[in-house]
Amino acid sequence: MIRDPESFSILLDTVSRLVREKLIPREAEVTEIDEIPADIVAEMRTMGLFGLTIPEEYGGLGFTSEEEVLTSMALCYASPVFRSRIGTNTGIGAQGIVIDGTAEQKQKYLPRLASGEITGSFALTEPESGSDAGSLKTTARRDGDHYILNGSKRYITNAPEAGVFTVMARTDLQSKDAKGVSAFIVERNTPGLSVGPADRKMGQRGSHTADVIFDNVRVPASSIIGGKKGQGFKTAMKVLDKARLNIAAVCTGAAERLLDEALRYAKERQQFGKPIAEFQLVQAMLADSKAEIYAARSMVLEAARKKDGGENITLEASCAKLFAAEMVGRVADRAVQIHGGAGYMQASAVERLYRDVRLFRLFEGTSQIQQLVIARHMLKES
Ligand code: CAA
Repeated sequence: MIRDPESFSILLDTVSRLVREKLIPREAEVTEIDEIPADIVAEMRTMGLFGLTIPEEYGGLGFTSEEEVLTSMALCYASPVFRSRIGTNTGIGAQGIVIDGTAEQKQKYLPRLASGEITGSFALTEPESGSDAGSLKTTARRDGDHYILNGSKRYITNAPEAGVFTVMARTDLQSKDAKGVSAFIVERNTPGLSVGPADRKMGQRGSHTADVIFDNVRVPASSIIGGKKGQGFKTAMKVLDKARLNIAAVCTGAAERLLDEALRYAKERQQFGKPIAEFQLVQAMLADSKAEIYAARSMVLEAARKKDGGENITLEASCAKLFAAEMVGRVADRAVQIHGGAGYMQASAVERLYRDVRLFRLFEGTSQIQQLVIARHMLKES
């Protein structure tokens, strides 16, 4: 659903202009310094990008799902690390509060997340609990009207930048599964909370992940999201439903860029006396990529519209994430293939994007987890 097509189209044009004029020209610099430059972060704040999906009453733009995915596609025509900088505020680092938070929690945190004054971060994964998220070991032991958190989280996006974390921890210390988990809002400066050094990754330079360590971190009982213990795993899953659909949009935007890079190169590069775009084997790679991007785009939009219509889209989000993450991997591979040796060189955008997009088959649920979610739904419905 697009609430006001005219003003939304102006916003999308503004995002596309930002991408073309400011973000793409700075991609090499971001890779070099492994940081989104402060002036770009400031510009994204001014444009309201940190608050895209936060309700208007808390200072955000209150985007519908369709508006969100279209914006992500447009933004991710530039390196996906720019989106990653705002992505925990528009997604996993704020949505727990948006979806399940109490009125007080929303009032306290959402305005600052919407403005980008603070960065949110989502702490679910642990050293021994990745795909099996319900087995997490971080504990939250009750102590009067407080909880004491102990444990560690791994690969947490934007942890080095974060001002506030959504932390899934076990409040039922006897339990071993998803039922004993609660979600907490934990402020960065709480004593005992520390963030490890930024991880050295295959790609996505400029977007940071790190361990987050909880050593007797004392938080008020009122920091449980929604005020109800034992609901944290469900909150995390609801957040991920929304996030997975958006990652499918991110993959689609990145694939569009990769295909344009490949098409441009195929038209310029001459071999055997003519542009390689005139060879049918190259055309096949371009055509397959175009068709697959169209399919991903259609899936994402259909699922987003369904969500805006109030329907549950757990199945559709997993379908879209599975297809789009695998699709962008194939498109990236073909883009490198069309570039030949030039695509293997670090000066080439497709070399960098090839490594960047590999992440999408892994994070916010691997492709195999999406298959599992899809199959479980099919079996349940039959
Ligand atoms: N919405 C609401 N509730 C849900 C739900 C959803 N989408 N999915 C599950 N639930 C509920 C279930 O109904 C169930 O509730 P009841 O006990 O009341 O019936 C409860 O949650 C437990 O569900 P399951 O039994 O299905 O749980 P499971 O332990 O079998 O796990 C899983 C299911 C799909 C495998 C899940 O563990 C999962 O998604 N794993 C992948 C984790 C993941 O995506 N991690 C990514 C971390 S974030 C990230 O990558 C970003 C970063 O910062 C790097």
